[in-house]
Order: sequence, then structure tokens, then C-alpha cells
Amino acid sequence: MRKKIVAGNWKMNTVKEQGVELAKAVAAKAGEAPANVGLIIAPPFTHLCCVAKAVEGTKIAVAAQNCADHTSGAYTGEVSAAMIKAVGCSWTILGHSERRQYYGETDEKLVEKTKLALAEGLGVILCVGENLEQREAGEHFAVCESQIKNVLFNFSADDMARIIVAYEPVWAIGTGKTATAEQAEEIHAHIRKTLAGKFGAKVAEDTTILYGGSCKPSNAAELFAQKDIDGGLIGGAALKADDFIAIAKAFEA
Ligand code: 13P
Repeated sequence: MRKKIVAGNWKMNTVKEQGVELAKAVAAKAGEAPANVGLIIAPPFTHLCCVAKAVEGTKIAVAAQNCADHTSGAYTGEVSAAMIKAVGCSWTILGHSERRQYYGETDEKLVEKTKLALAEGLGVILCVGENLEQREAGEHFAVCESQIKNVLFNFSADDMARIIVAYEPVWAIGTGKTATAEQAEEIHAHIRKTLAGKFGAKVAEDTTILYGGSCKPSNAAELFAQKDIDGGLIGGAALKADDFIAIAKAFEA
């Protein structure tokens, strides 16, 4: 059975004290989330360590928002998978559209990053999604399918047990424009079918596929009710503990 997950991508928000406070607030309310819903928070690098300590012993797992495509050495400004693991993280987000768009993240780089993250024992939340122009041109299925193929088809069925896919249509991120439940579901189903073609039906059925893009307490229940939507990757609403937990509670609605 695949896991239901609600993950919070804090992006470049909060300084250390605010981040620790937010993590503690989420931890204090985590018991209100359904027991079968996993919670992950992804703070900025600078406070991964403090946040991991603040939520130690709770059900909350900590993720980085990115990791390097090399193991160590002369790569100024980069942070390796081993460094992320060593401060108490169990996950890293990879391939977020903001990284693809602003920092030249390519599918080729994401293959390397995913390999290194898995080798360190981290789980990977791989983001895929089309931009507005691609959606308007009717290319959304093809774009997501090729991102999945270019990255995940380099991995094994066993590796897939530690990989979550997040579908985040770029036009819905931070815009207040959510994909409708139907728009999201048809892409999720397509992603699952694409995975089944390579890894078989069982692996595809067991893969958690999250929706991200203006997901909030008021629309989470409808999205999560779709058969191929297993939770959310939350941006803005993850910066408020109440909203983040309310989204996790949407599974009960
Ligand atoms: P918003 O929820 O702010 O639209 O961001 C979604 C996102 O990009 C999560 O990774």
C-alpha cells in the first residue's frame, strides 16, 4: 500500500529561530493529523540541523530542498547528500520547477543527484510539471512523462521504494490558481501509468504521487479524494502550522 504524505516546502523563507519555532508548532499539532499520513518538512539548509533536532522523536521527517550532483570537493556553495543526511534529514526534494527554471537544473543533473541521494540513504521527492505555455499547447502529459522517463527510468524497481513523485504544474505554484481535482488526477494517473510501463503495476501502485501548487486547507480534501493523488507538496500554506496540519486532516474529510 502506498503511503499518504503531506510535505511542506518552506522554500527561501524563515530565518533559523522562525524555522525552529514553526517546526515546533507543527510538531505540537502533528498528533491531530491522521495516523496514516506521513508529515515531512523541508526548511532551508541553514536550519536543517536545528529543525531536525526540534522534531526528533516526533512523526515529522525532515527534507532538504535540493542536494549537490557531486559527493564532495571544489563545488563552492553546494551541499552534498552526505551532509544533508548527517544533520538528521531523511529526504531531499529534487527537481523543483524553481530550480529547473532559475538554476538550470536539467534532467541529466537530476539523475546524478537522485543517485547520490539514494546512495546516502535519503529518500527523494522528485518534482515534475508543465509550465503555462506547455499546458496551453496541450503538452502537459508529454512534458511530465518525459521528465519521469528522463530521470526515473535510470533507476530500479527497488530504488522506487524510496522515491516520491510530486506533480507541480508551474502555473499553479504560488499563483493561487490550483489545478482542478480532475486536471491533477488525470496527470497523476498518467504518471502512474508511465511508471507501470517501466517498473510494473505493483511498483506503480505503491508509488506515492503528491500534488503541489496552491494547495490549501480549502481545496486539499477534493484533491486528496482523487484515486491517484496521495497527498500534497505544500508551499505557502506550509508556513503556517495550523494550515499545514489542516491540509493533513483533509484526508479525513
Ligand atoms: P504553493 O503551495 O505556494 O503554490 O507552492 C507549491 C510548491 O511549489 C511546493 O513545492
